[in-house]
Amino acid sequence: MRHIISPTDLTLTELDELLNLAEDIIKSPKKYSDACHRKKLATLFYEPSTRTRLSFEAAMLNLGGSILGFSSGDASSASKGESVADTIRVISSYADICAIRHPKEGAPYVASLHSSIPVINAGDGGHNHPTQTFTDLLTIKNLKGRFDNLTVGFCGDLKFGRTVHSLIGALSRYNNIKFVLISPEELQVPSYIKDQVLDPQNIPYEEVKSLESAMPDLDILYMTRVQKERFFNEEDYIRLKDTYILNSRKMSLAKEDMLVLHPLPRVNEIAVEVDDDPRAVYFKQAQFGVYVRMALIILLLREGEGRPIC
Ligand code: CP
Repeated sequence: MRHIISPTDLTLTELDELLNLAEDIIKSPKKYSDACHRKKLATLFYEPSTRTRLSFEAAMLNLGGSILGFSSGDASSASKGESVADTIRVISSYADICAIRHPKEGAPYVASLHSSIPVINAGDGGHNHPTQTFTDLLTIKNLKGRFDNLTVGFCGDLKFGRTVHSLIGALSRYNNIKFVLISPEELQVPSYIKDQVLDPQNIPYEEVKSLESAMPDLDILYMTRVQKERFFNEEDYIRLKDTYILNSRKMSLAKEDMLVLHPLPRVNEIAVEVDDDPRAVYFKQAQFGVYVRMALIILLLREGEGRPIC
């Protein structure tokens, strides 16, 4: 039984297989239109989502499979006090694979311990979001053509932004990667990312406050929204939410081939005027999310049938 709780649960070879399969799906979608016939995907979403849930569901439907699930904890028996462990035991007899999003860090991992079907973490609190990372990697592979020799800037809420934590972990496995971590002091990357990921692998990084001064060096700028739902105090959120707003003037400081990624949803951190810049690829990125999730569903179900990912 293979679960995906962290983006590094796939080896680099397996990740290559995933991304290559996703690119083949982009080229020849019809070839895969029946790949999951009679298979069911359960989406267990205890926290709001547009892209992750709907792209998982679109992915399974594109593969000829079926979907079931809930889009909020309130619409499930969690509202009556049912544990994640009991829920997944039951869902294991209703579906072949499941994607779970939960506000508590570690909840998908707990689910995986009690599951007899593959569990995919679709975002757990401020911790990890592996399928967003696979989406980000497919975007970088397809549009940049490489993972090595990149200077990647992360800007905004680096404390609570689980997509940031996951992507740092995934990119740290490639050669000659440098990170520029752009945030106010209160929203810096958690120390466990520095202590357990960056420092042990000697990954060069700098923590800065100015987006403008970082712009000229970046190959990729990964913008994030300030995560309102993870703040304990509304005053702090209001004070910090508009710290960074990417606009056309700031884009003029960047390399001509820099890419702007954003996991979305966007609030104010990217001005709408930037959307027409060819370097702004965040809507294309959201589209890539369907293909990479199609590839992941295929590979995990195959592995469940005894055919290893590679
Ligand atoms: N990127 C992402 O996780 O978006 P949703 O919250 O809409 O799923």
